Amino acid sequence: MSKATAVAPSNIAFVKYWGARDLEQAIPANPSISMTLSACVSLTTVEHLPTATGTEVRLVGSNGTLTPAPAGFALAVERHLDRLAKEIGVEGAFSVATENSFPSAAGIASSASGFAALAMATAAALGASASPETLSGWARASGSGSASRSVFGGFVEWPGDADDPESPARQLAEAGHWPLCDVVAVVDERPKAVSSRDGHRRAATSPYYRRRLELLPARLEAVRSAIRQRDLEALGKVLETEAIDLHMIAMSSDPPIHYWLSGTLAVLTRMRALRADGVPVFATMDAGPNVHLICEPDSEAVVCGAMEELPEVGSLIRDRVGSGPKTVEEHLF
Ligand code: PMV
Repeated sequence: MSKATAVAPSNIAFVKYWGARDLEQAIPANPSISMTLSACVSLTTVEHLPTATGTEVRLVGSNGTLTPAPAGFALAVERHLDRLAKEIGVEGAFSVATENSFPSAAGIASSASGFAALAMATAAALGASASPETLSGWARASGSGSASRSVFGGFVEWPGDADDPESPARQLAEAGHWPLCDVVAVVDERPKAVSSRDGHRRAATSPYYRRRLELLPARLEAVRSAIRQRDLEALGKVLETEAIDLHMIAMSSDPPIHYWLSGTLAVLTRMRALRADGVPVFATMDAGPNVHLICEPDSEAVVCGAMEELPEVGSLIRDRVGSGPKTVEEHLF
């Protein structure tokens, strides 16, 4: 088979990857833990062209037609595929097309789903039998570290520890273990002005960066334990602290990065009022203004209803924990 298509989910981090030991290789400064999603996905078709020279990367436009991808993204994909081809030992070039089911680069980790889908589709197109651990390493080597977590379903830890910096992500629990919801309150669909790559680069300039690293071992253990015991209160406490710390570090980096908008605060304020009324819901934000509201299925409708009433919320994405990527028979070209 020289053409294959994979659909891979995004993920939302409970303990964030923020800051790198080696940014080019996406070797993180700290371990992270995330939940793999199911509705926010990237669909990617890869065709191997053994005698071609240039790799072509296209995006699916709103009317379904394929258009050339922006130069920066196309170059990142081409470089990544060249590296994989070398590692697997094949010659030639590739034709790639990809689409997201959700707004790109707005704090919903489109690079995580995109590069996980690319790794899986490439392995399938080349007929290479790659274990999930290998795919995790390939996805990470794209430069988007969070992609290493998106090759597993359910709840996932990416250790990235100092003893074994290239360690792949691993599953902590399957999706069926705890059917958590992620209601994404989208307050701005536009791509963020500062990439997470620049955020990782600047993180260590914040006076709070080192302190967070010191606090992380206890947070990681609390999140593992909360997942094991399906304890939303315990999980929520840490995931909110982690989100605030990421943004506090971003805002106090040199130069500072401000991802929050007034809509972000409106969503957080409404969520706290819901919680005061007894609805167990907790918020996290990645590198963007949109808010991920984590709750259990029996609170999802009330959370959605409250957020829909806010004028600052442009749209809602109702997502849930998902079971990970897969190859599909239908191709994009
Ligand atoms: O994988 P990257 O380089 O796009 O960085 C991801 C950064 C966050 O989404 C903010 C946190 C995380 O762990 O997913």
